[in-house]
Amino acid sequence: MAGALFLGQGTARAAGIAASNKVDQQCLACHSTAGMEKELQNGEKLALHVDGAKFAKSVHSMIGCAVCHGTVTLENHPPSKTKIPGLREYSIERTKVCASCHGEVLKLYQGSIHAALVREGNPVAPICTDCHNPHTVMAKAAYDAATGAPCSKCHGSVYDAYAGSVHGKAGLECSNCHRAHDVSPATTGDQLKNACLGCHPDALAAHETWLPNAAQHFETVSCPACHAPGAKRKVDLRLYDNVTKQSVAEKEGVPQFDNWVRSAKVKGGDLDAMALYSLLREFNRDATDNKTTLRGRLELIKGIDAHRLTAKSQAIRDCAKCHQQGADAFQSVTVSIVGPDGRPVRYGAKPEVLHSIVSMDSVSGFYAIGGTRIKLLDWLLVLAVMGGIGAPIGHMTVRWLFKKYAKKISGKEDS
Ligand code: HEC
Ligand code: HEC
Ligand code: HEC
Ligand code: HEC
Ligand code: HEC
Ligand code: HEC
Ligand code: HEC
Ligand code: HEC
Ligand code: HEC
Repeated sequence: MAGALFLGQGTARAAGIAASNKVDQQCLACHSTAGMEKELQNGEKLALHVDGAKFAKSVHSMIGCAVCHGTVTLENHPPSKTKIPGLREYSIERTKVCASCHGEVLKLYQGSIHAALVREGNPVAPICTDCHNPHTVMAKAAYDAATGAPCSKCHGSVYDAYAGSVHGKAGLECSNCHRAHDVSPATTGDQLKNACLGCHPDALAAHETWLPNAAQHFETVSCPACHAPGAKRKVDLRLYDNVTKQSVAEKEGVPQFDNWVRSAKVKGGDLDAMALYSLLREFNRDATDNKTTLRGRLELIKGIDAHRLTAKSQAIRDCAKCHQQGADAFQSVTVSIVGPDGRPVRYGAKPEVLHSIVSMDSVSGFYAIGGTRIKLLDWLLVLAVMGGIGAPIGHMTVRWLFKKYAKKISGKEDS
């Protein structure tokens, strides 16, 4: 019977049906006994109960027990001679069988952050059977909008935040943004922004009607920074390679950033402008000047808040929320690099680094968040307020000041 594993799916299915009546029923004669369990080497208990009725309804019933449990036969057990160290080891070992029929899914999964964590030895990162019970798999029923399963099993607090959001209420799944198998790190890369724009293809055009430089805002401000209005924001300065045009990642086995940050220079505090300057020197030591620079991105302090997206009427539209001296978002600053598993490794920096001459001068290609360009805008806004133009100044003044865009904007609104 084990041979069926290596046959095509159709053959496996036919072989499964043939076997399901006789052998499966014998297996279930014992294994449908509630409470049946086996103690493993590390003392954990493996539950041996399989719900026969649920199995009969599942898409896998046609395969038959033996295809997935080739090592266990009516002849060789019980008792079982297989030594099983613990539950996790057992799951990982048994789950290898999925690949023989779902190779495409496995390939996607292997590129995910979850798989990277499993390879690192993370004991709670999901493998196939954490999200799919192999004995009860139903067609097209993996995600349950009412409970957020299977994701909520481990990301319960994210689900709780998400359930009340525009998307949660509309019944969207976590995988609509993150995907189910090739889940990528949430903060690095453009995967999530592209997911938003995939479902909201007219978003850029809609923002251009009121937001000058909308494309630049999409580049440097994360969507939730405006669409989760209650959340706290910060600036993340990412190490960026001007030559490869990519975020800098820690080299395999060489935690350059981590080592540097741990070094005496920055012991016990946030990076100041001088420290940032020498960090960049460190990264440019063996390269042409300013190969490595910093790129700013306005984002949320807590990733979980990215799940509290509200209706558009509540989104942040007030320019002064950001373009104002001392705006909240610029009071919290981190410096980051892409870590070995693709997630960012962050370190705190003093807010002054955004304005300091030292860091401005040392960092060419800096997006100037909170720097001179924003300062200019701040001053113009302040002057406008003092001039008594009143509430709509955010829009009016800026339109007037940024002649470059003014024509475009009024052209649109007039029509
Ligand atoms: C006579 C009752 C009985 C029958 C029939 C039976 N099992 Fe078991 N099974 C057990 C018991 C008892 C254990 C625990 C064995 C031990 O710890 O020594 C077990 C353990 C297992 C395990 C977990 C441990 C391991 O070695 O992987 C699997 C999987 C399993 N059985 C599958 C099957 C399948 C598939 C069939 C049908 C081909 C089957 N069993 C038929 C009683 C039975
Ligand atoms: C599609 C493949 C597949 C089929 C079909 C299948 N199993 Fe399993 N089974 C698995 C995997 C994978 C695990 C390990 C689950 C985990 O990660 O804990 C498992 C675990 C078990 C266990 C250990 C206890 C547990 O639930 O983890 C028993 C007992 C078992 N199976 C019995 C059966 C019996 C009896 C049948 C037929 C009625 C059957 N299996 C059909 C894949 C399968
Ligand atoms: C012997 C082949 C075989 C093995 C091994 C196997 N599956 Fe399946 N699986 C199938 C078949 C056949 C279907 C029915 C749907 C189809 O035709 O693709 C299916 C369906 C599924 C579905 C539901 C697809 C849907 O329509 O939503 C999931 C989820 C799934 N399998 C997960 C697993 C997991 C997890 C494992 C490993 C524990 C596994 N499978 C092992 C053959 C297999
Ligand atoms: C983190 C949870 C998670 C893990 C891990 C996971 N899946 Fe899935 N899987 C899902 C969800 C959710 C769906 C439902 C489809 C969707 O929402 O896009 C799904 C759908 C499927 C389907 C049917 C649809 C399709 O894409 O073909 C198969 C087959 C499947 N999974 C097999 C597997 C196998 C095999 C593994 C291990 C290599 C695996 N899954 C790992 C969550 C997971
Ligand atoms: C068995 C537990 C488990 C399940 C189920 C699970 N995850 Fe995860 N996931 C983790 C762990 C552990 C991490 C590592 C980061 C952490 O601890 O939050 C992680 C990380 C992530 C990340 C990256 C976070 C970051 O910092 O960039 C995303 C996105 C994610 N999961 C989405 C999902 C989605 C979507 C599902 C359902 C389809 C899911 N997870 C199901 C355990 C799980
Ligand atoms: C509408 C799109 C969308 C949906 C749906 C969604 N997320 Fe997210 N998720 C995001 C965004 C955007 C981020 C943050 C990206 C960033 O840091 O800039 C994120 C971040 C995360 C993180 C990392 C959190 C951290 O602490 O950094 C996890 C884990 C995660 N999501 C899991 C889930 C789970 C589980 C679900 C379903 C309950 C879900 N997401 C639904 C868009 C979504
Ligand atoms: C600077 C703040 C800001 C940023 C950044 C931002 N938005 Fe918006 N967005 C808004 C505001 C304010 C509205 C409501 C405009 C209105 O009154 O119609 C809106 C409206 C929307 C709408 C509804 C559009 C419609 O057709 O009415 C969608 C969808 C949307 N945004 C998606 C996004 C996505 C996706 C991103 C990231 C790529 C993003 N937003 C970035 C502030 C922002
Ligand atoms: C799978 C498709 C899908 C993805 C991916 C998606 N959305 Fe949505 N979005 C929807 C649907 C459906 C609604 C609710 C329908 C509605 O009210 O217009 C919605 C509603 C919204 C609204 C409220 C619009 C209003 O009229 O009040 C905003 C803002 C929004 N989404 C932004 C985003 C952002 C930001 C992302 C990425 C983090 C994103 N969406 C990802 C489908 C999607
Ligand atoms: C959530 C914060 C936020 C909001 C709200 C916001 N902006 Fe911005 N804006 C930014 C950031 C960050 C940049 C990028 C600064 C840079 O690259 O130097 C930027 C850039 C700009 C630029 C380009 C500056 C340059 O020199 O390239 C203009 C013009 C601008 N914003 C105008 C506005 C106007 C007008 C509004 C209100 C309708 C607004 N912004 C709302 C954060 C915001």
